[in-house]
Amino acid sequence: MANGIACVFAVTMVVWAVRRLRSSRKLDNCISSIPGPKSPSWIYGNMPEFLLGQEHGEHEFQWQETYGQVYSIKGCFGESRLIISDPLATKYIINNPGGFVWGSSHQKVANLLFGHDNIFLARGIVHIAVMPVLTHIKGEGHRHLRNIMNPWFSSNSVRASLPMIKETARKLVDRWESLGFPGNTADVCPILRDVTLDVMADGDLTALCDRTAIEACLVAILDYPFNALTGQSELAGTQRNIIDAVSSLTKFGLLVDKALQYIPDPVFRLACRLPIPVMLSIRKYNKVTDELSRHLVQQTRANDGSGIDQPFISRFVKRNTCDTEVGVPDDQIPVHVRTILFAGSDTSGGTLGWILYKLAEMQDFQHELRKEIQLASADDYDNMLLLNAIINEALRLYSSLPFVERVATEDCFLPLSQSITTTTGIQTSELQIKKGEYLYISIAAYHRNVSIWGVDAREFRPSRWLEKEPCKVPALGPHASFWRFAILEMQVLVTELVRKFVLTLPENDSVRACIATTLLARTSDGVHQLPIHVETVA
Ligand SMILES: *[C@@H]1O[C@H](CO)[C@@H](O)[C@H](O)[C@H]1NC(C)=O
Ligand SMILES: *[C@@H]1O[C@H](CO)[C@@H](O)[C@H](O)[C@H]1NC(C)=O
Repeated sequence: MANGIACVFAVTMVVWAVRRLRSSRKLDNCISSIPGPKSPSWIYGNMPEFLLGQEHGEHEFQWQETYGQVYSIKGCFGESRLIISDPLATKYIINNPGGFVWGSSHQKVANLLFGHDNIFLARGIVHIAVMPVLTHIKGEGHRHLRNIMNPWFSSNSVRASLPMIKETARKLVDRWESLGFPGNTADVCPILRDVTLDVMADGDLTALCDRTAIEACLVAILDYPFNALTGQSELAGTQRNIIDAVSSLTKFGLLVDKALQYIPDPVFRLACRLPIPVMLSIRKYNKVTDELSRHLVQQTRANDGSGIDQPFISRFVKRNTCDTEVGVPDDQIPVHVRTILFAGSDTSGGTLGWILYKLAEMQDFQHELRKEIQLASADDYDNMLLLNAIINEALRLYSSLPFVERVATEDCFLPLSQSITTTTGIQTSELQIKKGEYLYISIAAYHRNVSIWGVDAREFRPSRWLEKEPCKVPALGPHASFWRFAILEMQVLVTELVRKFVLTLPENDSVRACIATTLLARTSDGVHQLPIHVETVA
């Protein structure tokens, strides 16, 4: 093992050195001439500060203050990377998904987890955080999938999913009670994460067909006799193991990440066959979801033309008609099923956790919110000002994807909304990006910009959303950036939990936000958890 790793490093270094020599011709406005923090280490660069701190952003937000909305940091082995919160540059990157893709190591891991051509992950998931889902996917191969998906992500039927979400909320409350949460301190995170997976597997859900968004897809997908198969909790449990395994970041992980870029795909696939726990989990997960997908395909074909509402995934299934435009090949279905399962449970579960945590911290606000809930007329969520204020504020400061990593697939010029001065003293409003260079769009930094959000930009203050102008420019921010199904889901779940439970922080609270694949809560002993003290409302 050690030899293997040494070999990988040796190869990495040689490839890097060759590359470095080839690209040594310096341009005045290329990434390495952009000001940025000093690198404390040639091997690791600034990456540990960026990714591994006690709390996400402890260095990054300082850099932002010093260097503004575009600056460079060092990656592993002296390479330069760009951190961006400039709105124009951000739009350019997001609107050009062919020109900026996932890094090859992420791509490899995603392919391993989900299978090849995982549209959601490779292209779509960013849009959960940055823009309405999937509407910006470009490129030939994906246009086809986009056509299948778009009706599901249009906004007209979000409201139709309300009964299902309310049912979920009721079951969540029951679950907290049956687990003995009231009167105790409990880690609420896994329950929130699993709520979609768990709750939706039972019940008659076929009637709820025409919904939007990923959680709705989960319902439709999980309309399936899980217990006959392996028990749906096994699926949820395996998925949780995998998420935990792939999301623990370490310094060694940074090097592996770097080395992965240079490992040829076949070698990587071979390594994945090794009998190590995470690989075994992944194989098991893939087996269960393959089986699930097969069942869905069969069910769809059987119901075709029968007038029965088809579940979401049926949109992907090729029909027995001559219309070859419809659907994707059967062997692609599991890829989509897995991606949806992951994307759905991780992102909104995380944000929901942060909302509860902040409510536990802000007793007065929680009290006022409970009053608002008691006085509100049924289902009038959009008029519940305090509720929406705290959701918006959580999305602003605890975005489940605080940054997005992209690699340029070709040389290009990145437009900036404001010119910057390079280390060589040149003013430029365009950056030369070379093929293979890494960029990070920092959504978290944008959401902490003082000129946009005011001097208390870093403070968690929901009441800013009750003011006339919560921010100074049209936001990339929460409302524009999140998507309506997820909002409705949060509105309902928070309402039902706060109606029923009083939340407080435990005395030894030490929760910090840290970055795994998404923004997760971690206590001072390094465990991913979100302990909250729960009492039943008197
Ligand atoms: C905040 O945003 C404004 C307007 O987009 C920009 O001029 C400024 O440089 C940004 N500040 C930081 C620290 O990113
Ligand atoms: C906080 O206290 C609880 C109960 O006393 C204990 O189980 C837990 O490990 C403590 N957490 C931390 C992070 O110290």
